[in-house]
Amino acid sequence: DLPQQVTVHEVGPRDGLQNEAAIVPVEVKAEFVDRLADAGHKVIETTSFVHPRWVPQLADAEELLSRLHRRPGVRYPVLVPNLRGLERALAHGVDEIAVFASATETFAAKNLNRSLETQFDMFEPVVAGALEAGVRVRAYVSMCFGDPWEGDTPIPQVVAVGERLLGLGCYQLSLGDTIGVGTPGHVTALIDAFGSPDRLAVHFHDTYGQALGNTLAALWAGVTTVDASTGGIGGCPYAESATGNLATEDLVWMLRGLGIDTGLDLDKLVTTSTWLAERLGRPSPSRVVQALSKG
Ligand code: HMG
Ligand code: MG
Repeated sequence: DLPQQVTVHEVGPRDGLQNEAAIVPVEVKAEFVDRLADAGHKVIETTSFVHPRWVPQLADAEELLSRLHRRPGVRYPVLVPNLRGLERALAHGVDEIAVFASATETFAAKNLNRSLETQFDMFEPVVAGALEAGVRVRAYVSMCFGDPWEGDTPIPQVVAVGERLLGLGCYQLSLGDTIGVGTPGHVTALIDAFGSPDRLAVHFHDTYGQALGNTLAALWAGVTTVDASTGGIGGCPYAESATGNLATEDLVWMLRGLGIDTGLDLDKLVTTSTWLAERLGRPSPSRVVQALSKG
């Protein structure tokens, strides 16, 4: 059966804005996050404490956090790859982080400057340190379906990386289709290979137009947390072929039609996307935003 409720893990401010060519002013980012909370989001991935030279778009992480109007009941997780990042996050009162691993050797090198194996040397003390500080940890695995350099990613390789991350004490594992090459049958097979969908989330980029179909397959397989980005912005600076995430509006449109509750206000999301698109200087790639903003 399909779930009655789905948690949308909003990644627009992080995954969306990490990939913008021009640096977005910190006050625009802060307003974006506040508007997302106003639209009903309960989880807003806000920024990353990564190396500012690696991702200059998010070099203002500290300042952004200090400008947020945090609301009770809303979580504001941030990405943290290593102990230096954890130190920075803890100094700014972060209460949830996410580590982000690669399912492939090549992307581990390109995104983290580590190997498939040594990425865990980096994450282990981060997860342990965060849990000790009372901070929840989510984990991502990137390139779960395919990788631009290695082709299809073998399912057992994804499961091995994912289970190691869960074994460290991460509360949830988000399966990333970084370059959007996955298709619904592959999604079902991957989720089934984990044995249980209970701690899984899905993170689809819409490069090949498969994100909604893939999401539906994941829901049928028992997943109840879906990552999405308001306006459908996003991508990864270390995987050139990556384009925008599944748009939150497209997801909410489909879920509403299925009678699945998200607690999100679609009109407010569309208004926010339209507002952001003006600041970014280009229209939202989301079809639902385009259709509804013609109004
Ligand atoms: P490295 O060069 O190996 O770093 O990069 P290092 O550990 O050797 O440290 C070198 C120097 O950097 C040191 O300074 C550190 O202090 C400093 P020095 O001693 O030389 O003066 N440093 C830092 N400074 C500030 N904050 C930090 C930090 N870390 C080290 N956190 C590193 C390793 C992991 C840092 C680098 O590879 C990195 O920052 N990578 C991040 C890449 C990234 O953010 N990619 C996008 C996010 S992943 C994604 O989008 C996929 C996802 O959406 C899911 C999907 O779609 O699949 C999640
Ligand atoms: Mg992503």
